[in-house]
This record gives sequence, structure tokens and C-alpha cells, in this order.
Amino acid sequence: MATRYDASIATEIIESFDARPELLVQILHAFIARYSFICDEAIVQIADELNLSRADVHGVVSFYHDFRTSPPGKHVLKICQAESCQAMGSRSLTTHAEKILGIAMNETTGDGETTLEPVYCLGNCACSPAVMIDNEVYGRVDATKLDALLEVKGARG
Ligand code: FES
Repeated sequence: MATRYDASIATEIIESFDARPELLVQILHAFIARYSFICDEAIVQIADELNLSRADVHGVVSFYHDFRTSPPGKHVLKICQAESCQAMGSRSLTTHAEKILGIAMNETTGDGETTLEPVYCLGNCACSPAVMIDNEVYGRVDATKLDALLEVKGARG
């Protein structure tokens, strides 16, 4: 569940990085850790407090796939799309996940249960294809194993 945005806490986060614009990426990661996503209000506040334009901040937010701009579902399924996992079938695993969840990449199921996102290497290449569910990494995942994992996590939608 996403934490409610609080401008004074946002200021504390920014000040913990001395409001240094060159630390924008780290600041955005801290916002994600706190709020799970970067809302429009955060973009405006970060831009104002770092003396950057909103376009500057928005540009960085949209460049990095880690900086989602809407609240995630209760469960987050990330499927590795990097080279090793692609060679071992992550594309067909992604197609399977999209089919069973009824959503495309970067979408959340209508009931708010599960968000599907790409990730680019989970450091588990020897066990490709790899996925992460709610911050836990799993390797050698095929469609059957993914179905079982989602069932156990209650993330099947
Ligand atoms: S390429 Fe997928 S875990 Fe490294």
C-alpha cells in the first residue's frame, strides 16, 4: 500500500541530500522507498527545492524504469528482460504473465492486486530466467513455476 504524500516529509528527504540537484536520482530513489511512486506533487516539489525545472525532473523520472508514476498493486511482479534471461525465455514468460494477469507490462490488475514490471538484470543470470515477486528473487522460472509462485503469493489476480 502506497504511503500518503506529505510535503514536509518530502522536504526532509530532499534536505537529507543537502538539496543537491546532482543527487536527483538518489533523491528519487528515496522517494520511491518512501512512497512507492513519484506523484505529480513530488515532481513539482523536488523541482522547486532543487532549483530545477519540472521538465528536468520529469525527464529523469521517465528515463529510469524504476521510477513509477502511479501507485503499484499490492504485489509487484518483475520479470527480467536483460540478455541472459531473454536467451532463456523471459519474453515468452512475460507473454504468459500478461495473459494470466490480463494486463500489459507496467500495468496493474483492475483489482489493484498485482503490478507487472520489467527489470534489467536481477543479478541471478546463472538461474535465468529470473523474476522478482515482492522483492524476492526466483530463478529458472517457467510458466508453471510462475503460476505456482503467484498462487502462493496470492498475486494471481
Ligand atoms: S539477465 Fe536476468 S538476472 Fe541477469
